[in-house]
Amino acid sequence: MNLIAVSAQQPLTAGDGCQDPVLLNDWHVIGYADDFAEGTIYPVRLLERELIAWRSSDGQVHVWEDLCIHRGARLSKGWIKDDKVVCPYHGWQYNGEGGCTLMPAAPDETPMKKARAFPYAAVQRYGFVWVCLGTPASDIPQFPEWKDERFMKVHSGPYPYAANGFRAVENFIDASHFPFVHAGLNGVMDNPDRLEPYTVEETDTGLKSSEVRVFQPWGDARGQPLVAFYTYHTFRPLVGYFSKRTQAADAQGLPVTDHSDTFTTLFTVQPLDATHSIVRVLAALDVNPRPTAEAVRERADVVFAQDRDIVESQRPERIPVELRYELHHRTDLMGQRYRTWLRNKGITYGVI
Ligand code: FES
Ligand SMILES: [Fe+2]
Repeated sequence: MNLIAVSAQQPLTAGDGCQDPVLLNDWHVIGYADDFAEGTIYPVRLLERELIAWRSSDGQVHVWEDLCIHRGARLSKGWIKDDKVVCPYHGWQYNGEGGCTLMPAAPDETPMKKARAFPYAAVQRYGFVWVCLGTPASDIPQFPEWKDERFMKVHSGPYPYAANGFRAVENFIDASHFPFVHAGLNGVMDNPDRLEPYTVEETDTGLKSSEVRVFQPWGDARGQPLVAFYTYHTFRPLVGYFSKRTQAADAQGLPVTDHSDTFTTLFTVQPLDATHSIVRVLAALDVNPRPTAEAVRERADVVFAQDRDIVESQRPERIPVELRYELHHRTDLMGQRYRTWLRNKGITYGVI
C-alpha cells in the first residue's frame, strides 16, 4: 500500500508544535494525490510541523520533515535531481529511502549512516495523500464507495478554514444549521425542520448516528427538492462521513417516490495548527440522473464556503470538550457525543 517506513531518528524540531500522541499517531490528509507532480518539492504544514512532499519516478509520494540534518536548512528550498532531493545549502542528495547518497564536498566518501532525511508514513488512498507523523494507531478509514462502480466520485476543495479542525468536523455532522447557513439549498429558513430524536452509537469505526430526516429544496446538484435522511459517522477525530439517502419530494417536503438515491461524503481535515485547517471532500453519488462532476463541485464550493464563514466565527476557537462550556440540546446529540468522544480519547491539542 505504498507505505514508506518511518525513520526511528527524530528531527530536533520534533519537539515543536503539537505533542498530542492521539493526533501524531493518526493519519491526516495533506493533499490530493494529483497535487504532487514528479520533479517538484512541495512544502506542507501539518500540526505546526513543516514538511515536504515529493513524488519519485516510481509513483510514490514521500513526506519528510522540511529539514536537512546537516545544518538544518529547509529542503523545500532545494530541488529534485535524478530522483533525489538536493539540499540547497551544501548540496547533499537524499534518495527515496531518505538516505544521503552524495556529499558534494567529499564526493568519494560514503555518507555517514546518520546522514538521513526524516521520512513519515505516507499513503495514497481515495485520491488523497495521507500522512502519519508518529506510529499509525489504526488504518486509514474505509470508504468502500471508492471501488464501487455504482458511485460516481467527485473531489472538491481544498477549503482553507481559519478555524479549528474539530469545529469544522462538528459543523459537518450537524443537521440543525441547514435552514440558516444553507437557506434555500439544504433547508428553508422560514420553515426549519423539526429534528426528530435520533440515536448515536459508538462503533469500532467511530460514532454513528441513526437517520436524521430533513427537507432540502435544492438537495444536491440535480437541483430538485428532496427528503434527505442523513447517517453521520465520525471515523476519526478529523475525518467525518455521512451517507445521505434521498427521495424526490414535492415543494411541501413530502416524498413523491419510494425510490431512494444515495449520496455519501468523506470529509477530511488537515490541521495546520490548532486554529487553521484545510478541508478536502470526496463525494460518492449513486443518484439518477447523474449530475456532472462540475455541478457537484460547484454546489460543494457554495455549501462549504457558507460553513467556513460560520465556523470561522465560533469562539472560543478551540472546541470545548468540557460540555458545560457550551449548551447542548437533544438535537445536537451527534456533536455532543463527538466532543465526549474526543475527550475520552485523551485529546489535548486544539481543545479546551
Ligand atoms: S544543510 Fe543541507 S547540505 Fe548542508
Ligand atoms: Fe453546513
